[in-house]
Amino acid sequence: MANIVEAVGLVKEFRDFWNRPKAKAVNDIDFEVKEGEVLGLLGPNGSGKSTTVKMLLGLLYPTGGRLTVFGSSPRSVDAKRMIGYLPEETYLYKYLTAYETLDFFGSLFGLSAKERKTRTEQLLDMVGLSHAANRRVGEFSKGMARRIGLAQAMINDPAFLILDEPTSGLDPIGCREVKDLILLLKRRGKTVLVTSHLLSDVEDVCDRVVILYGGKIRAQGTMEELLSVKNSSRITIPDLPAEALAKIEAVIRETAGTNFTVDHPHRTLEDFFLNVVDDAKKESISTSGATSGGEIASYLVDGDISETGKEKLARLSGTEPEPEEKPVEEIPVLTEQSQQKLSALEEKAEVPEEKPLDESARQQLDDANKKLSDLFSNGNQK
Ligand SMILES: Nc1ncnc2c1ncn2[C@@H]1O[C@H](COP(=O)(O)OP(=O)(O)OP(=O)(O)O)[C@@H](O)[C@H]1O
Ligand SMILES: [Mg+2]
Repeated sequence: MANIVEAVGLVKEFRDFWNRPKAKAVNDIDFEVKEGEVLGLLGPNGSGKSTTVKMLLGLLYPTGGRLTVFGSSPRSVDAKRMIGYLPEETYLYKYLTAYETLDFFGSLFGLSAKERKTRTEQLLDMVGLSHAANRRVGEFSKGMARRIGLAQAMINDPAFLILDEPTSGLDPIGCREVKDLILLLKRRGKTVLVTSHLLSDVEDVCDRVVILYGGKIRAQGTMEELLSVKNSSRITIPDLPAEALAKIEAVIRETAGTNFTVDHPHRTLEDFFLNVVDDAKKESISTSGATSGGEIASYLVDGDISETGKEKLARLSGTEPEPEEKPVEEIPVLTEQSQQKLSALEEKAEVPEEKPLDESARQQLDDANKKLSDLFSNGNQK
């Protein structure tokens, strides 16, 4: 299996204005990302995860060591083309619809209109947002925004995805869906690097993890290598009658003494939660929140999504469309006297015919203009 990323003796030192060393964010680390794997990059705040990610994306220069992505420098255009990136905060243009968002990012990668259409439709379907294609992303829930962010990271059909906290802010259902999506990407042969503080999420999707602390790698390996407790065994069998269990316990006691426990295995809280939601859904219990499943909750996609050209233009340019009907202004009730005045004015209001000025009137006008201009030029001199 080829390595997508290879880092040897990688160092990133931040320097201050006078070029004095300020922080060694990444301190001599060796790691690789293997083709087709999901790798978790873990570590407490400030341990160097984002700095590592930024070096992989070619956004920061390493101070030392060697770093290659697809065998070349992370700054090479070819490497960038094959990478999809979901930043920690999804930056979306809130006035664009989900469809327009993907179409726009597709155009940044120089995709043809036909290709953009195909990919946009497929991606919306893949992240469960087909039904919300024509909704503005500004009104999306956090989970929906995260999904559209994921779709956006995939528009260039990258072989390697870097996802910074992909499940942050999601409810357990959204988390599960994002995790399933990552597993689906893996099945489609993609390589994924995930950073996360949610360890159970990492445990569910990652093949391997790298744990950073203070810019150094403290542990790395597969889940099996790191998590299996080698010095104990567990046998999980269907629940047995008490006599059968007593017999087995007697056998174990012969070799292990009293140093053993017998209990019922636990399922995870996530499994339990999802089952509860699933059961409620089957019983058609109504919810005011999102419903689980691959599709987006129907209340999120209901409503009139057709819009006029004027509305679309206003939306794309970031201005609210003018309401079709102006609110009726309140007309004050006129007194009888005012009403009479108004009628009199209306009667007189004939458009006067334009007559040419006679000689004396023209003279008066010229004099007045001259006085005015003198006044202004004096004023300016002060
Ligand atoms: N631009 C910068 N200038 C100076 N120091 C920086 C800069 N970026 C990061 N650092 C420092 O490098 C170290 C690692 O930061 P980094 O952002 O990589 O951590 P992280 O593991 O991503 O943390 P978090 O979990 O909080 O996102 C920190 O001490 C941080 O202060
Ligand atoms: Mg970070």
